[in-house]
Amino acid sequence: MSGKLPRHVFPWLLLLTFASLYFLSWFLSLRSLSSSSPGSQSLAKSNCNLFRGHWVRDPHRTPLYDQTCPFHRNAWNCLRNDRHNMTSINSWKWLPRNCQLRRIDPFRFLALMRNRNVGFVGDSLNENFLVSFLCVLRVADRAAKRWKKKGAWRGAYFPNFNVTVAYHRAVLLSKYQWQPKQSETGVQDGSEGFYRVDVDVPADEWAKIAGFYDVLVFNTGHWWNNDKFPKEKPLVFYKSGQPIIPPLGMLDGLKVVLGNMIPYIQKEFPGKTLFWRLQSPRHFYGGDWNQNGSCLFNKPLEENELDLWFEPRNNVVNKEARQLNFVIKEALQRTDIQVLDLTHLSEFRADAHPAIWLGRKDAVAIWGQDCMHWCLPGVPDTWVDILSQLIHDGCGRTGGL
Ligand SMILES: *[C@@H]1O[C@H](CO)[C@@H](O)[C@H](O)[C@H]1NC(C)=O
Ligand SMILES: *[C@@H]1O[C@H](CO)[C@@H](O)[C@H](O)[C@H]1NC(C)=O
Ligand SMILES: *[C@@H]1O[C@H](CO)[C@@H](O)[C@H](O)[C@H]1NC(C)=O
Repeated sequence: MSGKLPRHVFPWLLLLTFASLYFLSWFLSLRSLSSSSPGSQSLAKSNCNLFRGHWVRDPHRTPLYDQTCPFHRNAWNCLRNDRHNMTSINSWKWLPRNCQLRRIDPFRFLALMRNRNVGFVGDSLNENFLVSFLCVLRVADRAAKRWKKKGAWRGAYFPNFNVTVAYHRAVLLSKYQWQPKQSETGVQDGSEGFYRVDVDVPADEWAKIAGFYDVLVFNTGHWWNNDKFPKEKPLVFYKSGQPIIPPLGMLDGLKVVLGNMIPYIQKEFPGKTLFWRLQSPRHFYGGDWNQNGSCLFNKPLEENELDLWFEPRNNVVNKEARQLNFVIKEALQRTDIQVLDLTHLSEFRADAHPAIWLGRKDAVAIWGQDCMHWCLPGVPDTWVDILSQLIHDGCGRTGGL
């Protein structure tokens, strides 16, 4: 057919082809900018989703840091605590479906973040995440120093890049305070007092960080239960300084806190790169943490085991993560906060908690095994890979943070 076309048409055809390709790619890049499919790389041409996939063994894989990292927290420093099978824990590599997960290059990342700061706000699972991040980044800047300002609980400053990465502890995000029972009221209901939660007031620890951080990662989750706040020490929710009537249960309280804190975050951190990390799953087997639950596994779970472990309908010990995610995901809809859905990939890793190797002889007798936090080096290093890739790709798309 083309044989019949006059010669001089070809350059025009070529030009037309390139022009339409150009407009197509321009159109697609516009779409990828405006589509806010959170977390997944929203390139129209791929189905890349970093959060879905499987773990494969890669015997050549080694962690980027060891037990000598000065930012470790003792109970998670599994190498120092001689946790068994650490080589095995760190020989698994997360393989997302239809896309590449690059391992973080700490030099490149710190260079990208030069003169900028990354903040984590939430509970100890975000601290676990932070410690991994600090130990990884320190590889590129041995002069890293401890940093604890502006209400930070733990953090580091990387002087060669003028970058600060820190964690602000705020387990419920909202401000909460213990209110001992007033004896003169004479009410004998068996309670010792209550925790007043001001749903519309951020906890002091992160109330004054606006303007400092360029990237923020929020979370809340495993404190919303009766282990942390039993009946004798309940949460009582306040709004505009007045108790909310009728009083809210735990899960409704979480919904109201999210409904207030998420708009607050969007208002207080305009133009910042915002992430929300979904629940980190626990792996208590044979009972909960205070019922001799254990996690002595030597390999990740299989995909077909996950529902048995985590599906709330099965009323299982570890159902909390998916239950809370449901509430949190709903609250994050129609916001521009990117969802870090690290739950699924972490669900596999029953093998990767500190378990009985806590660095203190009596710790297991008192607290039970730790099947909730993660060994470092370990699974949070993969969280770091994912977060840094999303930050990096976000910069490429929008030309800035
Ligand atoms: C370091 O970064 C901060 C922003 O976090 C900036 O205000 C300051 O000027 C930077 N310092 C240098 C020496 O570049
Ligand atoms: C946990 O194990 C200890 C020692 O084997 C036992 O004495 C205790 O009763 C167990 N507790 C529960 C809740 O099963
Ligand atoms: C460590 O791995 C070996 C071999 O896979 C296994 O036999 C052993 O039970 C594992 N130990 C723990 C504590 O998981």
